Amino acid sequence: MNPEGKVALVTGGSSGIGRATASALAEAGASVVIADVDDNGGNDTVALIEGSGGKAAFVHTDVTNRQDLERMVAFAEETFGGLDILHNNAGVNTGLPRFPDAPPERWEQTFAVNLWAVIAGTQAAVPAMRRRGGGVIVNTASIAGIIRYEPDPIYGATKHGVVGLTRALAFLKEEANVRVNCVCPGVVDTPMLTRGLAEMTPEERAQRDAIVAAMPLIPPSDVAAAVLEFVRDDSLAGEVMGVMYGRPPKLIPPAVTFRSDPAQRMPS
Ligand SMILES: NC(=O)c1ccc[n+]([C@@H]2O[C@H](COP(=O)([O-])OP(=O)(O)OC[C@H]3O[C@@H](n4cnc5c(N)ncnc54)[C@H](O)[C@@H]3O)[C@@H](O)[C@H]2O)c1
Repeated sequence: MNPEGKVALVTGGSSGIGRATASALAEAGASVVIADVDDNGGNDTVALIEGSGGKAAFVHTDVTNRQDLERMVAFAEETFGGLDILHNNAGVNTGLPRFPDAPPERWEQTFAVNLWAVIAGTQAAVPAMRRRGGGVIVNTASIAGIIRYEPDPIYGATKHGVVGLTRALAFLKEEANVRVNCVCPGVVDTPMLTRGLAEMTPEERAQRDAIVAAMPLIPPSDVAAAVLEFVRDDSLAGEVMGVMYGRPPKLIPPAVTFRSDPAQRMPS
């Protein structure tokens, strides 16, 4: 899909990867709705896009609230005339202490933002995309959705869920002309990396620093470029793209396939 003249919606667009994707989509000619709990950041993203001659609007949205998700889709239709592209991108870490010591409210929030909201956001968006004859959904998973990610087991579990959901929704391409794909970035240089530092003990800070130091930081614009690739390439559905520092984005096939299932057949 050529983003020119299309309508895109970016959750978590007030910061980091979401802001970079929103800017890239606007630069490519899409009108962009920013949906986030952070009103100031959202208005800043809108100002950034409008300052470069693009079209954008902000709608306050808590992605863990179903009514908010329905409202953000309705807002895109009312403001820009429809919905063609959804970037399910809002995400949070569980923070320390690590599960199973994490209080239930913390890991439940991680689950709600990172996985429940991707499921519910997709459900809210698909009818609007059907009204347009099709659409593209790009989810932000993480390399933590592919590897064993011990620093935050709940984060890793939610991102594995996003990867699994994305692959399982490949059928929507045939059924509704809606292509669902996801990006799996390594460590990206965004405010997520520095949130909560002040409250950390020296031991927690050392643990966090070790994780960040283990991988060089990817600029958010690299992730935005991978998202745009998924938007533009009409052949891709149910695909998972790794975005690592200094390497071209790469599709990651499932680790295990079953010959008996035609949808999972291994190449001969
Ligand atoms: N930064 C990284 O290293 C990295 C790596 C891989 C994947 N990711 C994923 O990328 C996505 C974006 O993260 P980022 O690094 O840009 O972080 P960020 O903290 O800069 O941005 C996250 C955005 O999500 C918003 N958000 C949080 N809870 C929300 C809610 N309930 N409703 C609506 N919006 C909410 C925040 O307000 C913020 O604007 C997340 O899904 C994250 O898990 C990040």
